[in-house]
Amino acid sequence: MDSNKRPENMTRITTPELANAFIAEQIAAIKAQVGDKKVLLALSGGVDSSVVAALLIKAIGRQLVCVHVNHGLMRKGESEQVVKVFRDQLGANLVYIDATDRFLDKLAGVADPEAKRKVIGGEFIRVFEEEARKISGIEFLAQGTIYPDIIESDKGVKAHHNVGGLPEDLKFELVEPVKLLFKDEVRVVGTALGLPASMVHRQPFPGPGLGVRCTGAITRDRLAALREADAILREEFDKAGLVGKVWQYFTIVPDYRSTGVRNGGRVFDWPVIIRAVNTVDAMSATVPELDWALLKKITDRILSEVTGVCRVLYDLSPKGPATIEWE
Ligand code: XMP
Repeated sequence: MDSNKRPENMTRITTPELANAFIAEQIAAIKAQVGDKKVLLALSGGVDSSVVAALLIKAIGRQLVCVHVNHGLMRKGESEQVVKVFRDQLGANLVYIDATDRFLDKLAGVADPEAKRKVIGGEFIRVFEEEARKISGIEFLAQGTIYPDIIESDKGVKAHHNVGGLPEDLKFELVEPVKLLFKDEVRVVGTALGLPASMVHRQPFPGPGLGVRCTGAITRDRLAALREADAILREEFDKAGLVGKVWQYFTIVPDYRSTGVRNGGRVFDWPVIIRAVNTVDAMSATVPELDWALLKKITDRILSEVTGVCRVLYDLSPKGPATIEWE
């Protein structure tokens, strides 16, 4: 049987009982596959890699080595949460790399969106490879591949290997315990494994992170403004009960300024653009009619709390013709 094909009769995991049965089954399978060897995992903090990490910690404990690369383009508090949950609460063998300077130095002056993606993706592989070489005795690489990745990779839409691109001498045997699951099932399994709701129900976040929302050539001051504005937006959406109701929401800080007035004097500061979308498959998307009072509150907070910003805009454009991200 093709191990990459979901059996027709496989029950959809919708309850804690079904999740626990899946977890027990996978723990046995992982132990049988891995034995007493070490497994490496790139832990981004996304839903899929987090669930795989929690599952492997249950199965093989500290034989799992998680590497979290902070590329400096994470949202506010995100890397801290990965360390808190995995190292402090789950006792993971976690290597935390703050590679912020490395990434931001490489990105300095790079304005083209696809060139930025290439720099971020390429540098990620290099940092991960360097760490992998420092740890002896690794024979396996765990990945948060899920079923839609396999379907898309079969169709040739995208390669499903999350850390594809490692050099030949670092080719490990793969451990992909959730590869036959759909996203909703991964979330049910994550909850049963005790991961926090904020992690299990995390909205999609692009690999290049805030890098594609700080448009053009990234600068540290604009990135800091973006991170603060994004944190305010997320906090206010949370308070307004919109978590899980709006599919994806974030802010953008473009690389141009506009004139404003503050404390009686002229300023020349950035705008913050709010983006919120609803979609089923991210191929097309609509813009929700957000409550005016909420938009005003978010605007007031951003204008008073975020340095270097003098305007706030709401992007009303559906996909298409606009894409969800600005770059
Ligand atoms: P677009 O902007 O193409 O986004 O309408 C569709 C969905 O994909 C996410 N996205 C990315 N995810 N790497 C990723 O892992 C990327 O380079 C990337 N670009 C866009 C986007 O956040 C949205 O959910």
